[in-house]
Amino acid sequence: MSLHTAQSVSIREIQRYYDRNTRLFRALGLGNRAYAAHRAIWDEAATTFDAALQRVNALALAEIQSFAAERRVAALRLLDLGCGLGGTLAFCARALPEARLAGATLSATQARIARRILPRAHAVVITGDFHHLPFAARFHVALAIEAFAHSHDLQRAFDQASAALLPEGRLIVCDDVVVRAPSNAAEERWLTAFREGWRVPGVRPLDEVIAAARRAGLALRSTRDLTGALRLHRLPPILAGAARDALRLAGWAHPFIHSLSGSLALQECLARRIVAYCLMVFEKPIRSLAHTR
Ligand SMILES: C[S@@+](CC[C@H](N)C(=O)[O-])C[C@H]1O[C@@H](n2cnc3c(N)ncnc32)[C@H](O)[C@@H]1O
Repeated sequence: MSLHTAQSVSIREIQRYYDRNTRLFRALGLGNRAYAAHRAIWDEAATTFDAALQRVNALALAEIQSFAAERRVAALRLLDLGCGLGGTLAFCARALPEARLAGATLSATQARIARRILPRAHAVVITGDFHHLPFAARFHVALAIEAFAHSHDLQRAFDQASAALLPEGRLIVCDDVVVRAPSNAAEERWLTAFREGWRVPGVRPLDEVIAAARRAGLALRSTRDLTGALRLHRLPPILAGAARDALRLAGWAHPFIHSLSGSLALQECLARRIVAYCLMVFEKPIRSLAHTR
């Protein structure tokens, strides 16, 4: 299979995964009120499930607001790469009514919902691939929440994000990253099952992620490990491996079953501290860093 074909297959698979799973998640009421397709963060500020689902939005918004105050930006332009149902943009729009919003998602189902819930005059949502963005460099802040993990080409994803930002703009990424190599074959199987089940080839070692961003001209400002604020749900060890393998086998029937095997594997990877859930903030300096490639 040529590289080009392998990449198109990966994009089509993720598109199908989100089109079909979004309908099912909505029917089951998962993340409904927050229009979220990300994890709940149970830190000291979250007392209800809805609040926990909004925590990552609140953390991103705090970064955006401090950026806007520092740079004295009144009408902020905000881009959400992998915007899902538009929940994060809607959350930010409530606090920043003057902001101009743009989102990109692979899923037409998600894009339709996002267009419905976002203020029409201030938002544009495209069904498109963040490896090939149609936007010029005009955004103050870009977000990528649990989105770049799906990338088959993390370098390209960071390059495109960087190209869409104004000088001094910020990129806020919240994702799983590998923080230590699996130490045996069993751990290797858990990491592989997570990457395959959730279709997340972009879950890479943290230093690789930071290096890709740097080559794209983005300097790391901060990282925050949110793993401790996740509520993990592990099966007893005697069941977990068998459940993972059974779900993987049954995964052809519906992408939701496939995602369950990924969820199970993710719990193991997080609990064993192979993977961490991190909030990373990058800045595009006025002078480009890209020459250091
Ligand atoms: C786990 S969901 C997160 C959605 C949203 N950021 C949130 O926090 O609710 C991952 C999102 O990434 C999007 N995505 C994955 N790969 C993408 C790509 N290559 N281009 C655009 N969007 C992509 C999916 O369509 C989906 O909306």
